[in-house]
Amino acid sequence: MSFRLQPPPPARLNRCQLFGPGSRPAIFEKMAGSDADVINLDLEDSVSPGDKAQARKNIIEAIGDVDWGEKTLSVRINGLDTPYWYRDVVDLLENASERLDQIMIPKVGNAADIYAVDALVTSIEAAKGRSKPIAFEVIIESAAGISHVEDIAAASPRLQAMSLGAADFAASMGMATTGIGGTQVNYYMAHEGAKYWSDPWHWAQAAIVAACRTHGVLPVDGPFGDFSDDEGFRAQALRSATLGMVGKWAIHPKQVALANEVFSPSEDAVAEAREILAAMDEAQKSGAGATVYKGRLVDIASIRQAQVIVKQAELIAG
Ligand code: COA
Ligand code: MG
Repeated sequence: MSFRLQPPPPARLNRCQLFGPGSRPAIFEKMAGSDADVINLDLEDSVSPGDKAQARKNIIEAIGDVDWGEKTLSVRINGLDTPYWYRDVVDLLENASERLDQIMIPKVGNAADIYAVDALVTSIEAAKGRSKPIAFEVIIESAAGISHVEDIAAASPRLQAMSLGAADFAASMGMATTGIGGTQVNYYMAHEGAKYWSDPWHWAQAAIVAACRTHGVLPVDGPFGDFSDDEGFRAQALRSATLGMVGKWAIHPKQVALANEVFSPSEDAVAEAREILAAMDEAQKSGAGATVYKGRLVDIASIRQAQVIVKQAELIAG
């Protein structure tokens, strides 16, 4: 390993991020009452151009008025290619209460995009005497974004989380798909008359996880559009969790429980992780670096793997 230690990501729960359009304030209380760890009030693609100004007002009011409990409260601003984003940042930072935790920057293409938003945010925070620094999360959803993913992950100490946005990513890459995330019917291997579907998101997800883990950022899987397909959501989320992502978006409230289920280690998984730690503790007391647990090898790397699960369980337990 490099002598530079891998920085830990922020110690906060991020199993599910529930989105809702800023132009639909009637659902804000329901979002606050949900079991999602993160709330994303949206100013971007779920809000039509004519509604942007009103959506900003709705969100600024709700940040102060609604009881968001312990949730991480985030607002998705518009992309840097639009005429809206600077007003989003200025209005939010000047007028929203200190309850606002984070802003989400969509369609990030390179580290300079983050630098630009950071400069604006830093200036307004100083001018307004805001005491709590606003955190950033970003969406990787373009060919440029995935090409510069490691620079982006390193771009600002404000950055806490990074999501893959499957729909815009597919469009930017010129992928022949219309579904938002999940299985794509034409992406399969064929063998002896049978089809085997593979995962077109795998490479982008793994690249995001590697960039995030290098720089202490939380890697998150983005939206799954077909909210009537629980099995498809669960399969997508399980693959993401297996690759190292910590959570997934919900674009409908019924997806929150699914995400929480997948991204909370089961009691069995936690018990097994603790048993592995205990087995290795015993082994190390007798001077061994490896031992046998349930018929398989466990060694010092197994301690690090088991600690991932135990730490997540401790975070959830609060
Ligand atoms: N958060 C909290 N509650 C929500 C919700 C959300 N995002 N979306 C819908 N609800 C509520 C509804 O108000 C309704 O509540 P009720 O039972 O008290 O009447 C209930 O959940 C069921 O809603 P349903 O009728 O199934 O959905 P809908 O037609 O009202 O809305 C969507 C469906 C997809 C348009 C809506 O969920 C939505 O806007 N999602 C977020 C989209 C978004 O933000 N996209 C940007 C990120 S990709
Ligand atoms: Mg998008």
